[in-house]
Amino acid sequence: MKHITRLMPVACLLGATAAMAAAPDAPLKLPFNERGELQRPADYREWVFLNSALGLTYGPNRSRPGEAPRFSNVFVNPAAYRAFQQTGQWPDGTFFLLEVRASEQPVAATAGSSTQASRVALEAAVRDSSRFGGEGWAYFSFSERGQLRDTTAPLARSASCYACHEAHGAVQWTFTQFYADAFEHARQLGTVRRDYDPQRKIGEPPH
Ligand code: HEC
Repeated sequence: MKHITRLMPVACLLGATAAMAAAPDAPLKLPFNERGELQRPADYREWVFLNSALGLTYGPNRSRPGEAPRFSNVFVNPAAYRAFQQTGQWPDGTFFLLEVRASEQPVAATAGSSTQASRVALEAAVRDSSRFGGEGWAYFSFSERGQLRDTTAPLARSASCYACHEAHGAVQWTFTQFYADAFEHARQLGTVRRDYDPQRKIGEPPH
């Protein structure tokens, strides 16, 4: 027994050193299936929460006439967020989810208040330069006629996502300008694009 106790710290130390050596270079793996479709992560609500915006939905996700403005919540995989905190850049293997929710006005609450209600859409952006080339971004929609698909193929390069994100994202192709803490990191680490104009955060108003 005495013997084992003496050996244990050595074993722990070796284990810890191996883990530390492997961590920085280990590529983040994205969940693509053999058909090249992205799998919807069941646990994304345990990921890092970056922001919730009200009324910043666009395209097919915009609120219907007469409907209250919708919320959009942004989550990112924790490993990519840890890398971003070190470098101010979103690494290959970054996986963002944009969750759109209806809003409702609680009956007995202060006038003007809104809370989040049912999920109406789930979209994704991932970065994988070896798979997609160029800056590495590809865009996806898990929403299909009010339901969520388990897997989905990348949207075509001609989809509006690519042009708007490339033109107006302040850090790489992402709207990090709206993710307050992350944006502060990017500013400190000098990774905000040079022509970013804080007066026009999204360029043209979203449609
Ligand atoms: C008109 C500009 C515009 C278009 C077109 C657009 N987006 Fe975005 N996107 C935004 C803005 C603004 C945000 C900021 C976050 C928010 O809405 O809460 C964003 C955020 C995102 C995010 C969170 C990560 C990031 O890059 O900041 C994802 C994922 C996303 N959009 C997916 C899509 C997909 C998929 C499409 C195409 C079907 C699309 N977007 C089309 C403007 C656009």
